[in-house]
Amino acid sequence: MSSITVRVFEDKLSGSQYIADALRSRIHTNDSDSKRTVLGLATGGSPKKVYDLLVESVETGELSFQNVTSFNLDEYYPIGPESRNSYHYYMNQRLFNHTDVDPGQVFIPEGDIEVSEVDHYCKAYERKIAGYGGIEIQLLGIGGNGHIGFNEPGSSIESETRLIHLDEKTRRDAADSFGGIHQTPEKAITMGVKTILNAKKIYCMAWGAHKARPVQQLIEGEITAEWPVTFLQTHANVELIIDRAAASLLTDSSNFIVN
Ligand code: F6R
Repeated sequence: MSSITVRVFEDKLSGSQYIADALRSRIHTNDSDSKRTVLGLATGGSPKKVYDLLVESVETGELSFQNVTSFNLDEYYPIGPESRNSYHYYMNQRLFNHTDVDPGQVFIPEGDIEVSEVDHYCKAYERKIAGYGGIEIQLLGIGGNGHIGFNEPGSSIESETRLIHLDEKTRRDAADSFGGIHQTPEKAITMGVKTILNAKKIYCMAWGAHKARPVQQLIEGEITAEWPVTFLQTHANVELIIDRAAASLLTDSSNFIVN
């Protein structure tokens, strides 16, 4: 029986505010205890508003990233950090450039390493996360095909950080920003399902009707590698934060909290 807390919000803004508040308050608590906050971060459309709200808090002096360490879920491969489609570029533009984070405490899988180094690099990424005591709060979006990170359908619950082949649907979804399917990378480096499940707390978010199907699988479906998001059912501390449209296929509303 899954213990996922489902919170349905009126819209993306109020859901994002809930997540940004939770992150802010965890960072503040850890700051007062002189502890670093270790975050796992996602890219894509889903967390954009959360990052905007965090940046606002930094700009008003309410929040500091000085004691934050972050690990991103994934990066295309191959891709350079300056490419506008890279997740390095996204994170810098959307969040890091507007905060006081120590650049030495920001970890994003590198998409421009030699293929011969990838295995070694992925193992080192896992060790680095473990070296910081693991991820305290992980942010996740959900792919239309049920992927988390770039753990595409077929990924194992035991998977760790590795190079993967992107699903055709994932590539089609990204094709516009790359200027066509032929320019869209075929691979990515992603944290594994096991890496994600090792996080102490997970906030998974989904906005819009196009996410209703994977949300339904997550809450009402069997656990299956065909929908990697369903592996979150095995985690003890997941909150699913969604808007009404993403909740539209859930059949049992007694299981969720309407905000
Ligand atoms: C991004 C990531 C992906 C996205 C997912 C949803 O770092 O790991 O799993 O979270 O593809 O993407 P959006 O939010 O663009 O709908």
